[in-house]
Amino acid sequence: MKRIAVLTSGGDAPGMNAAIRAVVRSGIDLGMEVLGVSRGFAGLVDGEMAPLSARDVGGIIQRGGTILGSARSSRFRTEEGRRQALAHLSERGVEGLVVIGGNGSQSGAYALLQMGFPVVGIASTIDNDLVGSDVTIGVDTALNTALQAVDRLKDTASSHHRAFVVEVMGRESGYLALMVGIAGGAEMVVIPEVPADPEAVAAELRSAYARGKPHAIVVVAEGASCNAATLQEHFKSHQERLGFELRATILGHVQRGGSPTAFDRLLASRLGGRAAELMSRGETGKLVGLVRDQVTATPLEQVAGRIKPIDMELYKLANVLSA
Ligand code: F6P
Repeated sequence: MKRIAVLTSGGDAPGMNAAIRAVVRSGIDLGMEVLGVSRGFAGLVDGEMAPLSARDVGGIIQRGGTILGSARSSRFRTEEGRRQALAHLSERGVEGLVVIGGNGSQSGAYALLQMGFPVVGIASTIDNDLVGSDVTIGVDTALNTALQAVDRLKDTASSHHRAFVVEVMGRESGYLALMVGIAGGAEMVVIPEVPADPEAVAAELRSAYARGKPHAIVVVAEGASCNAATLQEHFKSHQERLGFELRATILGHVQRGGSPTAFDRLLASRLGGRAAELMSRGETGKLVGLVRDQVTATPLEQVAGRIKPIDMELYKLANVLSA
């Protein structure tokens, strides 16, 4: 291939810029021209793309967000939108597209592949729920951001003997909540994969106090039915009977920003470099990820529309370690 394009799509993740940089510089090194598409698939439908030089991607490896911008595009979900996108790629002589993103984005990439266009995906989402990669770009930074918040809340919770619920991102996957819960030493973790109810949470927190703990922290995933809002409402209406208050902190998009950790920069550099190599060899239709510390390429048909399950052994471990 002589000319390829790269875009970032869906929820941004720290390390996306490092991945863009790696695709551009490795692509140029392999004799290709690389175009950057603005605003993800939305920009592709509108034909917004421009060549990127090695200098254009200078000074971005340490920056959070994505210099290309990102979006969740409803037009691209229609066949007409995808046809428009393909027409723009062909007008510009682009022979292949690199899609940096998570689940929805890789399903979008797969849709283009099914229409006959060569694509390569790069696994990037703070949710870490993509099949085809043990770890995705952005997770490590998001975890550390959430962990810092839990550590700080624990300090003040201990001073006042208070109970806190901390809500982290993760619509369909409890990965972030589980990992933050283990690393932050939470008393309980509530995730979408395991049903829980407010009374069970109250019992767990009460038992933590009874065991002599000066604080009680529950980490919940936003996608759990028993999330921060549900818990807070329940605790408010039953405060007298439950005997203690529950304060809530919803971390939200704070977890998506910030300078990527060394791990995320290195991961993004490795995956971006491999994506460019696959493109130049014409080995497309794959998601580039990391499996057992090796950079791998998994067919997109095995990735699209699936959610990587969490390791239930870790859920058990979280319970044991909260003793
Ligand atoms: O997929 C990444 C993610 O941050 C999820 O954890 C979260 O549910 C979602 O994106 C939020 O999306 P948006 O920023 O579009 O509201």
